[in-house]
Amino acid sequence: MSTSSVSPLTDAELKLLQALVYQECGMHFDERRTHFLQDRLQRRLRECQLDSFYSYYRLLISANGRQELSALLENLTVNETSFFRNKAQLELFHKYVLEDLLRRKQERRDFSLKIWSAGCSTGQEAYTLAMLVADGLAYYYLRNPLPFDMPSPKPLIPPPWRVEILASDISYSVLRAGQEGAYSENQMSSVDYSYRLRYFDKVGERYAVKKALKEVVHFDFHNLKTEYLPQRNDIIFCRNVMMYFDEPEQRRLIEKFSRCLNPGGFLFVGHAESLLGLTERFAMVHRNSGTAYQKIEVQR
Ligand SMILES: C[S@@+](CC[C@H](N)C(=O)[O-])C[C@H]1O[C@@H](n2cnc3c(N)ncnc32)[C@H](O)[C@@H]1O
Repeated sequence: MSTSSVSPLTDAELKLLQALVYQECGMHFDERRTHFLQDRLQRRLRECQLDSFYSYYRLLISANGRQELSALLENLTVNETSFFRNKAQLELFHKYVLEDLLRRKQERRDFSLKIWSAGCSTGQEAYTLAMLVADGLAYYYLRNPLPFDMPSPKPLIPPPWRVEILASDISYSVLRAGQEGAYSENQMSSVDYSYRLRYFDKVGERYAVKKALKEVVHFDFHNLKTEYLPQRNDIIFCRNVMMYFDEPEQRRLIEKFSRCLNPGGFLFVGHAESLLGLTERFAMVHRNSGTAYQKIEVQR
């Protein structure tokens, strides 16, 4: 179908489609981002060989439209990501938050650690966290040796610890890429040699995440707009996702995250995002330019 035979997008149709996208995934397209939305809608319309935006809207809300709705949402997400993104914040995670959690948990003889990368894109954030946790645990036990001999060869996660990192997203194509865990030289630019040597195998032109590290990370579909989100996390990373939501949706998401976190758990948001003025359920932790938010315990 040629572009000229498609009737132009009216304001009313744009509003309908904007509202539908917002209702489905929380993404808010203000005036600055309407152009992007229009462009992506046009592409999908052509792909579906429809001649009006209203018929496209009708398709999306119909019983047969679920697949097209996920295709549209895939086209609207921004999937930019990298390994070791925001180093100052990761240093706070590694040197303070993780240490604090390991110590508190060990005191209670709770040896499980649950981390959630919410809006994980192609997996670099989740694998970065897995590498930092593996190194963090090794260093912790170098200073606080266990009362028994470590099995040989040393496992990545020393027993009795169990570490689960959940990486979730709304886009199936990025989840597949994360699960595959093979990255180009360009994508590896922020991974230094010691990490490459220990955690990756070179397969052809790409760097494949080693099996032991892959086993720590589990990829799954979760739409942050819904109420049914993974519970009992010690740490949530949700970076560069909330910035695409409007304020009411950000408030709702922060509320949900507070319910998804264990007592004293931590939430990390992106460099351009903040919880200030949006909630009283978290206290800011700031060290050497890195910021995180710790869930405040309500006294009963
Ligand atoms: C810019 S990437 C951020 C990736 C990574 N967290 C980082 O900071 O490097 C944003 C990701 O959030 C995902 N996303 C957007 N809306 C979502 C929603 N409602 N539920 C789950 N994921 C969502 C997108 O698909 C995209 O992969």
